[in-house]
Amino acid sequence: MNRNTFMHIATLLGCSMLFIACGDNRSVSSPDGRTKIDFSISEAGELSYAVERDGKPLMEESRLGLVAEECNLNSGFEVSSVEYNSKSEKWTQPWGENKEMTDHHNEMVVHLKGQNDVQLALRFRAFDDGYGFRYEYECGSKAEQVTITDEMTEFRLAENGTSWSIPGSFETYELQYRELPVAEVADANTPFTFRTESGVFGSIHEAALYDFPEMVLRRDDRGVLKSDLAPLPDTKKAYVAPSFRTAWRTMQLGDKAVDLINSSLILNLNEPSKIADTGWIKPQKYVGVWWGMHLGTQTWVMGKRHGATTENALRHIDFAAANNIQGVLFEGWNRGWENWGGSQSFDYTHAYDDFDVERIAKYAREKGVELWMHNETGGNIPEYESLMDEAMATYASWGVHTLKTGYAGGFKGGYLHHSQYGVKHYQKVVETAAKHQLMIDAHEPIKETGIRRTWPNMMTREGARGMEWNAWSEGNSADYLCILPYVRLLGGPMDYTPGIFDIDYSRARADKGRLMWNGDNTHCCIKTTLARQIANWVIIYSPLQMAADLIENYEGHPAFQFFRDFDADCDWSKAVAGEIGEYIAVVRRAGENFYLGAGTNHEARTLSLPLDFLAEGKTYEAVIYGDDTSKDDPEAYIIEKRRVSAADTLDVVMAAKGGAAVSFMPVED
Ligand code: NOJ
Ligand code: CA
Repeated sequence: MNRNTFMHIATLLGCSMLFIACGDNRSVSSPDGRTKIDFSISEAGELSYAVERDGKPLMEESRLGLVAEECNLNSGFEVSSVEYNSKSEKWTQPWGENKEMTDHHNEMVVHLKGQNDVQLALRFRAFDDGYGFRYEYECGSKAEQVTITDEMTEFRLAENGTSWSIPGSFETYELQYRELPVAEVADANTPFTFRTESGVFGSIHEAALYDFPEMVLRRDDRGVLKSDLAPLPDTKKAYVAPSFRTAWRTMQLGDKAVDLINSSLILNLNEPSKIADTGWIKPQKYVGVWWGMHLGTQTWVMGKRHGATTENALRHIDFAAANNIQGVLFEGWNRGWENWGGSQSFDYTHAYDDFDVERIAKYAREKGVELWMHNETGGNIPEYESLMDEAMATYASWGVHTLKTGYAGGFKGGYLHHSQYGVKHYQKVVETAAKHQLMIDAHEPIKETGIRRTWPNMMTREGARGMEWNAWSEGNSADYLCILPYVRLLGGPMDYTPGIFDIDYSRARADKGRLMWNGDNTHCCIKTTLARQIANWVIIYSPLQMAADLIENYEGHPAFQFFRDFDADCDWSKAVAGEIGEYIAVVRRAGENFYLGAGTNHEARTLSLPLDFLAEGKTYEAVIYGDDTSKDDPEAYIIEKRRVSAADTLDVVMAAKGGAAVSFMPVED
């Protein structure tokens, strides 16, 4: 019996094996046998890996290891044993694109002995939808703290191909995508998505990032794409305990672009929930006082244009209650916004005088609407860490369960947002929030690496150019929106804040006193059709999903019915069609209902989508919110109702920069 057969049997039995490595056979294959990872060690005890997909090289031999000041973490190793495990397990999560999950993988752990008592367990896991590996080091007894100065992990793709990524900034992810030949990428953040010349789709990222800097890819002076870690102000990369492990270095793989979206690799490489009772964690839809500030018609600071006033708050709560929307967010509710961009000092417990927070909280409770709080820190981490526990306790006393955070500003002390310091801070917020039963929506965050599985109160985050960019910049093109799902969204949910209906900002333009608070905004507008704005509620997954426009732009609007009917708490999802940068179509199920969102780039397109995802034998009323292609007007839409079943195929007609959203609700025949 060969090892693969044996491992297959082991999978069925759910058992694990320990082999003493013999010869050069140190490899592990995915359960379907298509992906094979080979580990090798040189005479000098240097470590490397190579990967094959369908018998062809995917990754050429690529170096492994870290560089530290106190000990040698990358050479002088000997293999002491190799352990093989297999797992096939179903697990569930309280929320997510899919609540029912399967973790099916084969594992190889190479146990190595290095110089001066250094030990390393190199853990590889091969899944059908990709693989991950991580370093688990024991640095010997002498060092009290280990100073990491570099990571050597290389990513030598065997073939050239096309890639989609943002640059490898350690400060921000709010950057435009570049479509580049892999060979021409100088640096890139992750997820780094590519299609090789022979047609393999892949995406490099990381999973379970804690207490370590983020990894970006950077081409070194030998021309090799390798890991580069975000530095601390003293140029070191990280200070870790002698016994430490890194995040997983991951590779999602597929035959089609949408396979990457349907992959559950990142969550499978994270640990189960540490929050025992998750009953208070609830996906929801929300509206808020937000877009007006970005448009320049309202302000965060108190004054005659102040957005977060008591009157406005009560109006939003009424709107939410009347429209099947669970949450309301008010930015600019607390004192200190005068200091944004200056001392970055905020008061997290006291509201401005024109925002009667106790009355608003009581009104929200009476109306059954969730009041959210917002904490902009401006990057003043020392101040926020000293005040957040008390602030969160206060919010909990008001009955608040959701907190949006923001880090618009450089961190004090010269720390980078994505450094080990940043990663630790963002985690501290998540854990403190969990203590106060608060869900987190983080803006200017650290990237999503699947920690939502372990900390299911870490609901959503920004971490890419969101809607705000349309208010005061050249905006987010339809092409951008056709790359986002295949790159940033592979990491996890995004609080993009979709759904602007006033595409040309006619209401804002009519306001002659409109402020230009973030550059010249006079040329700005939404760069898609209205139907595409609706579709984004489905396409851009977020368990906290905002209808971001001013609520007066939704009042009485027939197309807002989609959001009323939409359910942010989905049970199952599937990307059913798409090509990177061209188009995307996603389906989600929540209870008995299904929702479809489709979008195209700058080209008009019709997709024929089989409705075979619908439940067999049931009839649904499909309400289609589409582009009115007879008019040259991005705000022109159609609403069409049709009876459909799983046997039907739907032609989704999309204008250039357009899209369509469809709700499917079961009806009696
Ligand atoms: C940037 C965030 O992305 C945005 O949502 C927020 O309104 C501003 N910062 C102010 O906190
Ligand atoms: Ca932002």
